[in-house]
Amino acid sequence: MRTLTKDAPNKIGEQITLMGWVHARRDHGKLIFIDLRDRWGIVQVVFNPKNKEVLLEASRLRPEWVVKIEGVVKERPEGMQNPELPTGKIEMEAMKLEILAEAKTPPFTLDTDGHEIGEENRLKYRYLDLRRERLKRNLILRDEIISFIRSCLHEKDFIEIETPILTKSTPEGARDYVVPSRLYPGKFYALPQSPQQYKQLLMVAGVERYFQIVRCFRDEDTRGDRQPEFTQLDIEMSFTNQEEILNLIEEIFTELIKKKFPEKHITQSPFPRLSYAEAMEKHGSDKPDLRKNKDDKNELAFAFIIDFPMFEWKKDEKRWDAVHHPFTKIQNSESLNLDGDPTGFLAEQYDFVLNGYEVGGGSIREHDPTILEKVFEIMGNKKEDVREKFGHLLTAFEYGVPPHGGIAPGIDRLAMILAGEPNIREVIAFPKTGDGRDLMMDAPSELEKKQLDELHLEIKKKKK
Ligand code: AMO
Repeated sequence: MRTLTKDAPNKIGEQITLMGWVHARRDHGKLIFIDLRDRWGIVQVVFNPKNKEVLLEASRLRPEWVVKIEGVVKERPEGMQNPELPTGKIEMEAMKLEILAEAKTPPFTLDTDGHEIGEENRLKYRYLDLRRERLKRNLILRDEIISFIRSCLHEKDFIEIETPILTKSTPEGARDYVVPSRLYPGKFYALPQSPQQYKQLLMVAGVERYFQIVRCFRDEDTRGDRQPEFTQLDIEMSFTNQEEILNLIEEIFTELIKKKFPEKHITQSPFPRLSYAEAMEKHGSDKPDLRKNKDDKNELAFAFIIDFPMFEWKKDEKRWDAVHHPFTKIQNSESLNLDGDPTGFLAEQYDFVLNGYEVGGGSIREHDPTILEKVFEIMGNKKEDVREKFGHLLTAFEYGVPPHGGIAPGIDRLAMILAGEPNIREVIAFPKTGDGRDLMMDAPSELEKKQLDELHLEIKKKKK
């Protein structure tokens, strides 16, 4: 049976079998030392002349070879112990060695934090990069965040529901990724920029409390805190209001920090709530960094920004656009002239901010189909286009829609900040490069003629 490295210190005097990678090898002639690594850690293995054949075989070992080693766990003599390693008090005296896989020399070192290595190389060989301790820790941290949030929401009676990836465009302000339909020539699915419309339709369906840890797709320029595909914690509730949603988020994240990141401290609780106008006036930003000491890597300044303007004027397109999205409720809309100038209309919208990053956004939704139609028209859509684009939602709202609202924290950005990383690529297992490529899989890539034909697609030749 296999023993994990973390359990080896409890097996002094016993014969065990370890499996893993050769992390490092020190050849002292008569003695060979191997640091054997598995997911849980490292154990020092000693090959000595008592087992000549095994020692000879061990002399072939190179870094990153995969091995199975049987041996006896021994306490290291005083002075030879390594207090930096959790397994530093023991070592294994090898009796048997089996080489499970040889390995080429990796294109870069794996025993550093990796910041010094060119990113192109790291992403091309991501499966090796992920062997590095720092990245492994980030994967674990991300998993802990997600599993904590899941159980927290389940306790509060939320249901996780999957929504389609092949769907129709939802306006979230970015370009869509599209997928050609084979069965309907000339027609396309769009990948969701978020499950916004589906989660609202689930409220019409009577789900009341929905959440989903969900992949979203946006064809926009990539930055340090932006990826073409990213993960949201998507939440929607019925019969709710802004206060309830913000309190829910505050509770989840306060508990998360308390339970999983006890070394960190929150600057201010309850999380401060600033109006958009106040944030802009006092801090010149709608995602102000409210940390007291920006050198403190354990400080977390959460805040909510509220009372955003509903519309902004898009100079290039000469039209009004929704600051958040068109499904957002306009504050006090009953006392406004919706046919007049929308300057100054405020929205029931809120952003969730952490250390100067926007880590979430949401709103109370407009559930009156007449007002919603009006909003689409203010944004420059013709009446008939509104029905064509959003008819499904407007129709659904004619069948008994509860008032509802929600929010969507971005998991990648949160994990980045909690891991103390400068970039969301460090907390995503297989991220895209800054220019949107997957260097490991070599995507995007060309399609074969046969596939293009099936999809009724022809590629326009670039003009020379
Ligand atoms: P919004 O567009 O504000 O809201 O997105 C919510 C959060 O998702 C994260 N995010 C991203 N993270 C990484 N890369 C990206 N390209 C990217 N784009 C967004 C951010 C952001 O705050 N449907 C609404 C939510 C709602 O109204 O309930 C929405 O998607 O952390």
